[in-house]
Amino acid sequence: MLFFAPFASLRLCVIVFNLPPNCSVALFVAYETLKTETLTRPRKAIVTDVPKMQKIINHFADRNEMLHKSLNELYEHIRDFTVMEEDGEILGCAAIHVVWDDLAELKSVAVASTAQGRGVGKTLVDHVLGEARELGLKRVFALTYVPDFFAARGFRLIDRNMLPHKVWGECIKCHKFPNCNEIAMMVHLDAPHVETN
Ligand SMILES: CC(C)(COP(=O)(O)OP(=O)(O)OC[C@H]1O[C@@H](n2cnc3c(N)ncnc32)[C@H](O)[C@@H]1OP(=O)(O)O)[C@@H](O)C(=O)NCCC(=O)NCCS
Repeated sequence: MLFFAPFASLRLCVIVFNLPPNCSVALFVAYETLKTETLTRPRKAIVTDVPKMQKIINHFADRNEMLHKSLNELYEHIRDFTVMEEDGEILGCAAIHVVWDDLAELKSVAVASTAQGRGVGKTLVDHVLGEARELGLKRVFALTYVPDFFAARGFRLIDRNMLPHKVWGECIKCHKFPNCNEIAMMVHLDAPHVETN
């Protein structure tokens, strides 16, 4: 469905504005660029963001798309989180959690339904990967139900058993354990194809 969305917009330009296809392509590219460029820069989360972040995360968790987060967990890990906002509203969040000297976990990537498809998710992920790189980390993993989104950001599928025991320790606390079907993915930050900002 997502794959066809750009083509649908392009077709709309041709039909609604009655433009020749090459003008429509230019208009479409300009629109796609503009909608990403008007986004504000990601920033570190502050405590007043937490209830809004929780609302976004738990909305998707209620639909079994990610794990629920309590206010307590979010306050305790506030320093891991980056957010993007617009007009005082939180558009989305992402967290980078250091696990060991060369390894971190990318967690809680969530974009409000009303803000999806504008580049918020990829901007947040690229930003926190940049943060991980600045911390001197070499590898970042994610446990996810949307592997294609992460694959486009340089992540590759891995065997879950490659992850350290510390991670499994956290999994054991999860209500889905051991019937969790999240997919494990890893990105190597020194790989040439990884974009971070
Ligand atoms: C997955 C999610 C974070 C994407 O956020 P978004 O802001 O809509 O994504 P973007 O607009 O930055 O899209 C970036 C690219 O990923 C693609 N994409 C977006 N959602 C996708 C999905 N669910 N599966 C595969 N690709 C996806 C887009 O088509 C876009 O491709 P392009 O760069 O070629 O145009 C968002 O849909 C979300 O919050 N989902 C619910 C929670 C969730 O599943 N989080 C994932 C971590 S467990």
